[in-house]
Amino acid sequence: MFTHVDSANMHMLRKFWKYLIGKIILINSNTKFSRRFFMKGTGAAALVGSTAALTGCAEEIETTIEVDAAASSEVALERVNFDAGYNRVDTSSIKFDLIKMQNPDKDLDVGMGIADMDFRTLPEVTEALKKRLEVENWGYEIPPLDYPANIVDWNKRRYSADVPRGNILNSVGVLDGVLSTLNAYGDEGDKVLLLTPTYSSFFTVIHQANMVEAESEMIRDENGRYQVDWEDFEAQVASGIKMFILCNPQNPTGNCWTADELRRMGDICNEHGCLVLADEIHCDFIMGDNSYVPYAELGEAYAQNSISYKSTSKSFNLAAHRTGYLFSHNRDHIDAILKVGHQRLLLNIMGMIASNEALKHGDEYIDRQNAYLTDNCKFVEQFCAERIPDIKYKAHEGTYLAWLDVSALSEKLDAKNKAAELTAYNTENNVTYTDFFGVEHIKTYRTGDYLKEWFLDNAKIDINPGENYGKGGAGFMRMNLATNRAMLEKALSNIEEAINTI
Ligand SMILES: Cc1ncc(COP(=O)(O)O)c(C=O)c1O
Repeated sequence: MFTHVDSANMHMLRKFWKYLIGKIILINSNTKFSRRFFMKGTGAAALVGSTAALTGCAEEIETTIEVDAAASSEVALERVNFDAGYNRVDTSSIKFDLIKMQNPDKDLDVGMGIADMDFRTLPEVTEALKKRLEVENWGYEIPPLDYPANIVDWNKRRYSADVPRGNILNSVGVLDGVLSTLNAYGDEGDKVLLLTPTYSSFFTVIHQANMVEAESEMIRDENGRYQVDWEDFEAQVASGIKMFILCNPQNPTGNCWTADELRRMGDICNEHGCLVLADEIHCDFIMGDNSYVPYAELGEAYAQNSISYKSTSKSFNLAAHRTGYLFSHNRDHIDAILKVGHQRLLLNIMGMIASNEALKHGDEYIDRQNAYLTDNCKFVEQFCAERIPDIKYKAHEGTYLAWLDVSALSEKLDAKNKAAELTAYNTENNVTYTDFFGVEHIKTYRTGDYLKEWFLDNAKIDINPGENYGKGGAGFMRMNLATNRAMLEKALSNIEEAINTI
């Protein structure tokens, strides 16, 4: 009922919202914003308030909200022991339980596939959700009205970034916003540029929009860092490609793009009229003394020709809540996205409460988590160097994903030929598997699929094939390091043992 609001209605709602805010200022002047007060409001007021807060006229509530910025409580954080980790088994986790469901006859010691974390979330998030559960009615509800302000404040105090409060839109996770943008600016069959290896679901979302990927394969330098092939990148942009999906920091290579690199990408895109879709979902994961440069902060020209996508889902392990946001300094982009039907006025209330609490209280949590994950990266680097010479890894810059060079192991296992043999056999004998949606497929193998199966069978761990990430992915596997040290050690020891028995 409330998902499609035409512009006349929107205008009316905004006017009414302004009126309502005027009342709130009168009632609430000099007092802290009270959510309970709003809970007693009428249904109509609830709808109007939430609509306004979520569709771009949120700047109007600025004066009413006192943000409890950076109010992370030391006491609450004591409950988060990164070193203790969090047991995900039998919690319906994709990382552990889905892998077990798909491989009922196999043992899984450590799930290291999908990009989420085995840590307890921020205690303030759980407290707020518990409190909401006490209200045994789930009718239409005002989302936290300080949410847009908290998005702005988080980005300002952590990254000195100026998110335009009136130009923030909700999205059901980050990819939802990316998909809407592709639909807003692309036509069927259009090419969308990616720097590969890159996040696998970018390919999926491009296909969902009936478009095709154009891959500019990066070059791995002698230190294992990925460099843009500038000649290729420029040639592809100049060929008339209308959109480029930037991943900043880059999943899976772990690059934290420098300002110079981003500016160079941006200059090429701006010159040729190619819109930059900056997926910055991993921006809170910065290892050691590396840094994150928000794309939209490079300057006006870059800000105007881009849209940024973010969420609390990776940072605080809230992915199941499907709550994200996007923004642009250029209002035209926001309007274009709304016009293709991206109306996400009311997201699931639990997701919005969770995200809001995380942004208010999460600073210390993120700092501690980054310190812990940085040590995890060093631990894996050292372990591989000393005990698993067939796997090469150098501590990366951002994200919690390790991009492992498994080419030597692959050779040792003759994985390429084994994969080809299995594919031929399965095709001939109609050996199938059933996917998540219940559809049957012939079980074919890329080299990385063979390796994935080898790791599960022999080391009892689940990691992802490099081929999932596009050109340049073969010979690599992605390992998720967002777990506690004991689990990490278990996984690596299992690998060491498995390799020793080849
Ligand atoms: C770069 C990147 N973008 C988007 C997503 C997915 O985000 P969401 O689940 O919010 O759509 C992921 C998840 O792994 C990711 O790594």
